[in-house]
Amino acid sequence: MEAKKIRSTFIEFFQSKQHQYVPSSPIVVKNDPTLMFTNAGMNQFKDAFLGNEVAKYPRVANSQKCLRVSGKHNDLEEVGVDTYHHTMFEMLGNWSFGDYFKKEAIEWAWELLTEVYGLPKDRLYVSVFQGDEGDKLAMDQEAYDLWKSIVAEDRIIMGSKKDNFWEMGDTGPCGPCSEIHVDLRSDTERGEIAGRDLVNNDHPQVIEIWNLVFMQFNRLADGSLKELPAKHVDTGMGFERLVRAIQMKSSNYDTDLFGPFIQALEKKSGKTYGQNEPDDIAFRVIVDHIRAISFTIADGQIPSNNKAGYVIRRILRRAVRYGYTFLGFQQPFLYELTPLIADYFGDIFPEVRAQQEFIAKVIQEEETSFLRTLDNGLKMLESIKAELNAKNQKVIPGKTAFELYDTYGFPLDLTSLIARENGFSVDEKGFAGEMEKQKTRSRAASESETGDWVFVHDDTGVEFIGYDFTETHSQIIKYRTITDKKGDRYQLVLDRTPFYAESGGQVGDTGWLISDSEKIRVMDTKKENDLIVHFVEKLPANPEKRFSAEVDKEKRTLTMNNHTATHLLQSALREVLGDHIQQRGSLVNEYLLRFDFSHFGKLSEVEIARVEEIVNAKVRENIPLTEQRNVPIEEAKKMGATALFGEKYGDFVRVITFDKDFSVELCGGTHVPATAQIGLFKITSEGSISAGVRRVEAITSKAAEAYLREQEALVKEIQELLKNPRDIKKAIESLIQERNDLKKEIESLHLEKAANVKGELLSKFVEKDGAQILIAQVELPHADSLKKLAYELKNEVSPALVVLVAKIEDKPQIAVILEESLIASKGWNAGQIVRDLAKEIQGGGGGQPFFATAGGKDLSGLEKAVAKAKAMFL
Ligand code: ALA
Repeated sequence: MEAKKIRSTFIEFFQSKQHQYVPSSPIVVKNDPTLMFTNAGMNQFKDAFLGNEVAKYPRVANSQKCLRVSGKHNDLEEVGVDTYHHTMFEMLGNWSFGDYFKKEAIEWAWELLTEVYGLPKDRLYVSVFQGDEGDKLAMDQEAYDLWKSIVAEDRIIMGSKKDNFWEMGDTGPCGPCSEIHVDLRSDTERGEIAGRDLVNNDHPQVIEIWNLVFMQFNRLADGSLKELPAKHVDTGMGFERLVRAIQMKSSNYDTDLFGPFIQALEKKSGKTYGQNEPDDIAFRVIVDHIRAISFTIADGQIPSNNKAGYVIRRILRRAVRYGYTFLGFQQPFLYELTPLIADYFGDIFPEVRAQQEFIAKVIQEEETSFLRTLDNGLKMLESIKAELNAKNQKVIPGKTAFELYDTYGFPLDLTSLIARENGFSVDEKGFAGEMEKQKTRSRAASESETGDWVFVHDDTGVEFIGYDFTETHSQIIKYRTITDKKGDRYQLVLDRTPFYAESGGQVGDTGWLISDSEKIRVMDTKKENDLIVHFVEKLPANPEKRFSAEVDKEKRTLTMNNHTATHLLQSALREVLGDHIQQRGSLVNEYLLRFDFSHFGKLSEVEIARVEEIVNAKVRENIPLTEQRNVPIEEAKKMGATALFGEKYGDFVRVITFDKDFSVELCGGTHVPATAQIGLFKITSEGSISAGVRRVEAITSKAAEAYLREQEALVKEIQELLKNPRDIKKAIESLIQERNDLKKEIESLHLEKAANVKGELLSKFVEKDGAQILIAQVELPHADSLKKLAYELKNEVSPALVVLVAKIEDKPQIAVILEESLIASKGWNAGQIVRDLAKEIQGGGGGQPFFATAGGKDLSGLEKAVAKAKAMFL
């Protein structure tokens, strides 16, 4: 069975059991401070498990894009080295939200694997949670009994908390689980050691394929478990492993999921997969990583230097490095695999097809810059080697290796590899020590502790009323404490709130919680999954009391102006530059708006002016807002509403329209009632932020007005400085002309003066023991002229020793020049002389034996230097 068929069979099987198919949520997570990337199919249902949200369907199935490269579930270092871990993988899952439980989950899993996919029963093992003393949990007898009615008892393995109690992260929903493992060894091998002894033992051919989690608890920050209000099922099956089991391959990479990618690499590198180990690892690393990179870029995460962007950058660099070291790719090559990604995954994940060109550009640019880094790193290593050779040492210190890593992005294993090739080694322990030090430093800087939610009132759900009101009466449902170096702060969830939580680029509202006796500042509002969390510095004295929640209206209004202007800007950019414009990010606050979009060239002045004109015309038209809530997503798409890749939209969306023929967008933000409120729109900057992504910053209303006033004031000031000429541009041009003329005149005066000085000095040479000696104090315009004068004097008198002490731009300088014959005959050395004399001006210097200079700090020492020189030579 082909991989595509295996995927669709899974979905169809669960549809036949009344499950609703839902699309994969984006692989890049927004609105969850505990997670950067989706690491399991259940992430998008976290709130339904916790009871924060009512599940839309009681039964759901899907194939979820996952990435396990950070946090609790991190497989990165294994990827490529073995044949069954991946960075990005698809997780097939079925879920029950308070609906069916263990019986159906177990029976259906078995039915699908053995009857539909036809996996041989004698290759399958199952595991059951054995209980845990620490958590005071008994063994999962129910699951055991259910399995016992299906499989022989010797196929059931009891598992510890590590293997059979699944947790999403340090906190959150969790529960005991039953795993299904498959033994893919040959019959002979299977005859030798029983498969059950190899389950959960990292055997490459005896692997877990499906995990059935029985969600029953929420793990709190204090480590304790709390029963969930209802019982749920969360299952996850590694698609790549399932395909391998069904296709009976000994490696995930031998299935048709990876085959075409490996073949493409073989063709490009001229090497054959399966010939030798380090090269094979490189093949696997690359064909794995290209998926992770492409999928995350498609969902809006561009490689960068922090957080999620940095994770992607590291994965990309790992792939480039393996290609460079083992497959001989010295030029960008990864990006050429993106058409295959588009072909292969475009049907189920259309975002990789729709953005293929963009993904390729971003990858190519990253590759180019990292290959440059590699080159620089190699050069650095050359000089480090030379230094060590000179000292007769053979170990690259850990600190040096860490510097290469930290500053030049040069990975340790590559440093080690090159070191080995050159007969060196690396102090890896020292390196690890440096790494630890850095981690401790950054941990200390950012460490904070999040307490558990404390309930004040029953959780009856949260109502957001901020589209219609900016004030309301509220009460706190729950709060928690955040503790860091600065002390305690609090996060509150209210039953009703007018506060807009940061999302879609728009900043969170600020404002106040007001009661008779208190006024507490709300510093920020953010989303956590679907919760609206208010950040405050102190708790109300009585958290149970009702109060008035009031948004800072001034800030909200200015922010709204900028948000609506962003929509108008997007449409105007499309009109001026073309339909390829896709939003890549945005920031909207009370001061400005920032809009990132895909486009490959710089915007010209004319294009910028045209965009401003269009937006300002729309502002003057005073187009009223049309806001539609709860529009079915399909209908919104038919309306031509602009949507964002990597954004998670529900079945019902909000559509914001300003003139249905101009701007229709899916958006959760707040907008002006009619466009004239924006007043004025002005672009203040335009530039590139990464390959194929441009950034425009702009201001509106009050800020735009202030900007114009500042510009006007600036022009006025200039005018006044210029004594109010009629034509200010002409006045500046003539100033520049005048300045250039004066510069020329000064230069010729300098020359004249230097000639005079020289003439005078020539008459001051004194003969002493066969040498012509000149010791003099001079005043000169710049350091160059001192050197020039010294050379000229030496060339005209022979054999000369010239000592010039000078005041140049208010600093003392000394120059000593002598004819080379005097070095041998007298043993004089200009460098030595200058160093001696420089002491008088509190300075230092040096040079060659025949010419040397020094600078200093103490002008008053010039005369002493002259006296000293005279004492030395006359
Ligand atoms: N959430 C479970 C897992 O990721 C199914 O293994």
